[in-house]
Amino acid sequence: MRVVVSGGSGFLGSHLCEALLSRGDSVCCLDNHSSGRPVNIAHLRHDARFAFEAWDVTERFSVSGDVDAVVHLASPASPVDYQRFPLETLAAGSKGTENMLRLAERHSARFVLASTSEVYGDPEVHPQDEEYWGHVNPIGPRSVYDEAKRFAEAVTMAYRRSLAADVGIVRIFNTYGPRMRSYDGRVVSSFIRQALRGEPLTVFGDGSQTRSFCYVDDMVRGLIAMIDSDRPGPFNLGNPNERTVRELAELIAVITGSHCGLRFLPLPVDDPVRRRPVVARAREALGWQPRVSLEEGLRNTVDWFAAQSRTPLRPSHQSPVGRPS
Ligand SMILES: NC(=O)c1ccc[n+]([C@@H]2O[C@H](COP(=O)([O-])OP(=O)(O)OC[C@H]3O[C@@H](n4cnc5c(N)ncnc54)[C@H](O)[C@@H]3O)[C@@H](O)[C@H]2O)c1
Repeated sequence: MRVVVSGGSGFLGSHLCEALLSRGDSVCCLDNHSSGRPVNIAHLRHDARFAFEAWDVTERFSVSGDVDAVVHLASPASPVDYQRFPLETLAAGSKGTENMLRLAERHSARFVLASTSEVYGDPEVHPQDEEYWGHVNPIGPRSVYDEAKRFAEAVTMAYRRSLAADVGIVRIFNTYGPRMRSYDGRVVSSFIRQALRGEPLTVFGDGSQTRSFCYVDDMVRGLIAMIDSDRPGPFNLGNPNERTVRELAELIAVITGSHCGLRFLPLPVDDPVRRRPVVARAREALGWQPRVSLEEGLRNTVDWFAAQSRTPLRPSHQSPVGRPS
């Protein structure tokens, strides 16, 4: 297959490009490097089946030759990014999604949209399945991201209904792994950065809010299963193993050997209280389910962060769980 991946220099996108190349596909990666990094794809550049285009998806894009699938990942994705670039976030979800849909349509290619669990907002039902319509504050500080993705889903379904386009929507829940940025404002990268620097781990609220964390390799398998499917979804992709944020902090403290404890700060506005995907639909339709445990995924991620920062990693068996301050 020849696959166009928008946002391919980012965290998820670079892992997806790598996995597609390793199964024999060709990849055309588009990115404006607003939050993605050239280093994420540097090791792919030597491969003749890999092409990179510096491109902003809010501009129309065309490419010669056949295209079999277009995967649209390009968007500011972490809270620090979308709150710093609110208008760009809305544009990536609206104009960007439509430009990528048009590209797929011109090539009669499959289109896969990377949507998000944030379309459920601060959910009133738990756990969240795809029937739930969500509870989003349309004018809150997170709304630029949540509503951009909701629009992206709507325009994707409109292309399916009005043009019989071959589309698929996945709603991605919190995903972590190597190549996350240390300062992207996400909880896993923040805790690991703080632990490796010997700082207290910053927990917002009392840490009783929950998240479900999916390792990047599992997520990439899910994305590829959606590329290969002809089903529209939407399908939740995530790990249903729900943990409190405090549990996550304590686990990272054990893995890194951090003794610095936890520091509690007020909860941000509109922070979701509970998050857990129901993945029965993805299991049934795509034959997909996550395989990597949180402990194993976090160890891989901590090792990667430690190698980046050249911080020596202390063995976990010597380390007590961090105590709250
Ligand atoms: N990682 C997660 O936990 C998670 C959860 C839900 C949804 N998602 C979705 O998955 C996708 C990838 O997320 P990620 O975690 O890899 O984030 P990321 O920031 O690492 O990757 C996003 C990429 O898109 C690029 N980009 C942004 N705007 C662009 C534009 N206008 N034109 C071209 N490129 C642009 C960035 O430079 C970056 O490389 C996003 O659409 C995000 O909303 C991710």
